Amino acid sequence: MLTGTSLPAIKTEVPGPRSVALVDELARSECPAITARRARRAAETGVGQDPIVWKRAKGANVEDVDGNVYVDFTGAFAVAGIGHTHPRVVEAAQRQSQELIHAMGDVYPSEAKIRFTRKLAEVAPAELTHAILGLSGASAIEAALKTAAVHTGRPGVLAFWGGYHGLSYGALSVTAYRDNFRRPFMAQLNPWVTHVPYPDTYRPPFGLAPGTSPEQVSQTTLAHLRALLSGPATGAETIGAILIEPLQGRGGEIEPPPGFLAGLRALCDEFGLLLIFDEIYTGFGRTGTMFACEHEGVIPDILCVGKALGGGFPLSAAIGRQEVMDSWGNSAGESVHTSTFLGNPLGCAMAEAVLDVLVEEDWPARVARRGVEIRGRLQELARRWPERIGLVRGRGLMLGLELITDAETRAPDGALGLALVGICRDQGYLLLPSGQHGHVLALSPPFGVTDEQWEGLFEVLTRAFEECCGAP
Ligand SMILES: Cc1ncc(COP(=O)(O)O)c(C=O)c1O
Repeated sequence: MLTGTSLPAIKTEVPGPRSVALVDELARSECPAITARRARRAAETGVGQDPIVWKRAKGANVEDVDGNVYVDFTGAFAVAGIGHTHPRVVEAAQRQSQELIHAMGDVYPSEAKIRFTRKLAEVAPAELTHAILGLSGASAIEAALKTAAVHTGRPGVLAFWGGYHGLSYGALSVTAYRDNFRRPFMAQLNPWVTHVPYPDTYRPPFGLAPGTSPEQVSQTTLAHLRALLSGPATGAETIGAILIEPLQGRGGEIEPPPGFLAGLRALCDEFGLLLIFDEIYTGFGRTGTMFACEHEGVIPDILCVGKALGGGFPLSAAIGRQEVMDSWGNSAGESVHTSTFLGNPLGCAMAEAVLDVLVEEDWPARVARRGVEIRGRLQELARRWPERIGLVRGRGLMLGLELITDAETRAPDGALGLALVGICRDQGYLLLPSGQHGHVLALSPPFGVTDEQWEGLFEVLTRAFEECCGAP
């Protein structure tokens, strides 16, 4: 039985024989666009790093098909905020699945959808009351982009370097994370998107020197945007919306400087643009507040959420101000934005349970406290290897170690990221690299990881650094 609070128990080599056999089988029937991870890892590290195949998960524990038990510090892409197979979510799924698994989203909605959208509006920042539900982060982003086009009459979007918003065509147009995600499809991507640098204070944009103050990085980036939006022929005349992750996730747990989001809000108000926050990663307590935008008290016009929302069920939403969402106009008898599974009752019932647990168990505040403590521990590591850990990034339980080849050049060290992830996995601790070069060792665990599990990770991680970087 998995408890959810156990330390790892590794019985076989990792991956074990059953995992290897199953992944071989998978490669025979799944498109290599997906199983590509396998080849890439092997090529980059020179060691076989086939995936382990998951069998079950609970709380912070995952068990693979070979019976090995791991502690999951990825939260399975930050989905398992309140933990894997949370009992209240499982109970809601069981109850709902006996009554109604599928309804007719926009034509004949279910009670579960109605209850859930009301609760979502209660949890969302005050002015954000009207939602479009979706099934993936990408679909929430596309709903937000369509809403912005309808509301402003302008097709253009300003998005940021390093931003990850999903890979379907509309979302891929605004994603600027890895070149190879976009290159084959360039001709099919929305041409109205302008990408600008994210105000990364560790590697400041616009030629600013490393060490430039956060205020300066913020002001320089905002000044660039202002010039772009106010100049007569900059190409920004078509822009109707600014889309940003208030803390970049896959881009490498990068926080914007204080005041930057407020600066964006002011620009949007001045130029009549909609501000869209992609909180698909950061939402639902991950950064120590229910939504990351609360840290600075900046409310967007549309908030996109997903990942942790469904407790593991694919569910997302774009939640907007009423006057913005009302731009869609009254229905002429048929929904103009819908899909077969929109507002799936099973997902809505599970998500309602997630929202209840988050609020009743006060998870955002608990994450904030835990985050401060863990950040301190990561900073201890950074002090021991200052030549290889440039910075501790992130907030709450969305944290990362910026790995570098040396402190002078600050060159990103993706190979170190992969090596550390591999060593930790073999010892039963699951981590993922993030950042455009895979050079940020990312932590987005279930919130309830125990003290003992954290201690276990720090022990293994310290040994992994010693192995890869030498004793400090
Ligand atoms: C910030 C952010 N936005 C959007 C997405 C896309 O979500 P999905 O993969 O569910 O389409 C992701 C996925 O990692 C994300 O991190």
